[in-house]
Amino acid sequence: MVSYKELGLVNTREMFAKAIKGGYAIPAFNFNNMEQLQAIIKASAETKSPVILQVSKGARNYANQTLLRYMAQGAVEYAKELGWEKPQIVLHLDHGDSFELCKSCVDFGFSSVMIDASHLPYEENIALTKKVVDYAHQYDVTVEAELGVLAGVEDEVSSAVSHYTKPEEVVDFATRTGCDSLAISIGTSHGAYKFTPEQCTRDPKTGKLVPPPLAFDVLDAIMEKLPGFPIVLHGSSSVPQEYVDMINQYGGKLPDAVGIPEEQLRKASESAVCKINIDSDSRLAFTAAVRKVFAEKPGEFDPRKYCGPARDLMEELYKHKIINVLGSNGKA
Ligand code: G3H
Ligand code: 13P
Ligand code: ZN
Repeated sequence: MVSYKELGLVNTREMFAKAIKGGYAIPAFNFNNMEQLQAIIKASAETKSPVILQVSKGARNYANQTLLRYMAQGAVEYAKELGWEKPQIVLHLDHGDSFELCKSCVDFGFSSVMIDASHLPYEENIALTKKVVDYAHQYDVTVEAELGVLAGVEDEVSSAVSHYTKPEEVVDFATRTGCDSLAISIGTSHGAYKFTPEQCTRDPKTGKLVPPPLAFDVLDAIMEKLPGFPIVLHGSSSVPQEYVDMINQYGGKLPDAVGIPEEQLRKASESAVCKINIDSDSRLAFTAAVRKVFAEKPGEFDPRKYCGPARDLMEELYKHKIINVLGSNGKA
């Protein structure tokens, strides 16, 4: 059993309370490799932004859980080396799908876990979430739960349509589970294809797809029922057109990729939404930069020469999100 406190990590409790009061959101960036982690830490240290490092089940399978844990531990030291005196870094399990996985992360030094039982019937979601909360809270590890279903893929679980969170359920759910934060469904979705072209309109000037707006009325109703309770938005990549264009220009094929407009995330950040999950945008930045090097320098075969530019572009992306979208700069 390793406590996250020994690793220099923090849980989300205080971070979320401050974010709600201050009208900003904490970035939750997924990482699977060293370059992503370096970029996240550099961006957070330079902007003095609290940050949540997210590890999915897929990331654990890809990179090895032991390695990822030590990387997160190393990230705290790296942040200090960069001049961030008191790094506010959370190590969080993203989309935990069983009690055993969540327990293993708690035992392994994670400071926060998500139990995503949103695809289960309501009472089963409550029972599993409560079981995880009861275990995690013994070690002061915070727990994110989910109510409502996002469209798209959530690890192995996929749904063609989203089911918005029902505001009338949130008080009962939060009270009976004791969860620390709640991921809700208000129209965001995972991946780079968040909406089909049929769900969008087209901007007559640019011909680009314009997605349907988030259901802010549902968010408002939830906040009214649960005043001051930390709300989480998954599937919040904005799928920057510049990266999509770059990927397509250099031999990729991402037709009609579409994300959540940043103004809407900015608006959400000012509310009780205090954690915003971003993964796909970083994948797009990485891929765009690598494709550019491959196309322009076909003789290049030193991975540092294409992973380096990818890392730089991701750092720029993370800083942009922190400063211009979530408003978490200077809050740690
Ligand atoms: O919500 C899912 C995250 O983007 C993680 O994706 O399961 O492919 O690692 P992954
Ligand atoms: P995106 O696919 O929109 O980046 O969402 C990531 C996410 O929700 C991770 O849990
Ligand atoms: Zn997610």
